[in-house]
Amino acid sequence: MTSPVIRRSLRLAQRDRRGGSDSLADGGGDASPGNRAGFMAGLSLIRRLIKVFHPEGIPWPGTTFYNTISSTGIFQRNYELVASDIISYGSEGSILDIGTGPGRLLIELHRQSLMLRLTGIDVSSSMVSKARKNIADAGLSCEIKVEEGNASHMPFDDGSFDIVVSTGTIHHWKDPVAGLNEVYRVLKKGGYALMYDIVSDTPASVLKETARQFGRLKIMLLWLHAFEEPFYSQKAFGLLAQPSLFRKGETRFMGVLCCLILKKEAE
Ligand SMILES: C[S@@+](CC[C@H](N)C(=O)[O-])C[C@H]1O[C@@H](n2cnc3c(N)ncnc32)[C@H](O)[C@@H]1O
Repeated sequence: MTSPVIRRSLRLAQRDRRGGSDSLADGGGDASPGNRAGFMAGLSLIRRLIKVFHPEGIPWPGTTFYNTISSTGIFQRNYELVASDIISYGSEGSILDIGTGPGRLLIELHRQSLMLRLTGIDVSSSMVSKARKNIADAGLSCEIKVEEGNASHMPFDDGSFDIVVSTGTIHHWKDPVAGLNEVYRVLKKGGYALMYDIVSDTPASVLKETARQFGRLKIMLLWLHAFEEPFYSQKAFGLLAQPSLFRKGETRFMGVLCCLILKKEAE
């Protein structure tokens, strides 16, 4: 079972993603209506302020915090699951990881298939430094390249990659349609884009299974993550494909992550 705080936050995040302005109306919990409205007003104001001043990408010192927690077993297990899911679409060729963060998914992809050419990109220069250091520590600086850049305008030629992936980043993008159009441009014809992210309406059964496998700490970290930049609902996540050059996409769950699967048709 998820705690009332988490459920309330996920509801709030979902409403924000739908563009709802009545965040004060339904706080949930057992406080009196007056206290509840006050609490939700404060929470909503803090979130709006964070959103206005939040730069795109994770700046320092958030990068140090994220780099540390991403080295824990809970995250590692997740990278293993995502990497094997990606490799089921192709175990050789070139892969681009957008918003690679500390670069740990790239390291895991290399561990699972030596035949891959791996590139990462991240908008945060501090994150790029962390990724390069982690990759160097793993002795893989010649095998994995990481560059600084924004999903909305990437420094790669058209048709450069067989597969483009991204984990836990799309809800951070200020312009997701521009980002998906860039993904389309840099993909080879017939290539797949696999965009993994948490969604605000993750089915209770998935959350329960995640809590069973990873413990409640993971669920709490997810809630913290959703606080500053709300997640999409599963439906809104899937609908992101429509205004983009992909036109259509489908979603499915892979562990606690929802994966938006997009294909650049070969024509
Ligand atoms: C929550 S972290 C996820 C990192 C990594 N994918 C992982 O799963 O560990 C989100 C990352 O996306 C990056 N990011 C956010 N918006 C971006 C954008 N528009 N273009 C490129 N990177 C972006 C952030 O700087 C951050 O490193």
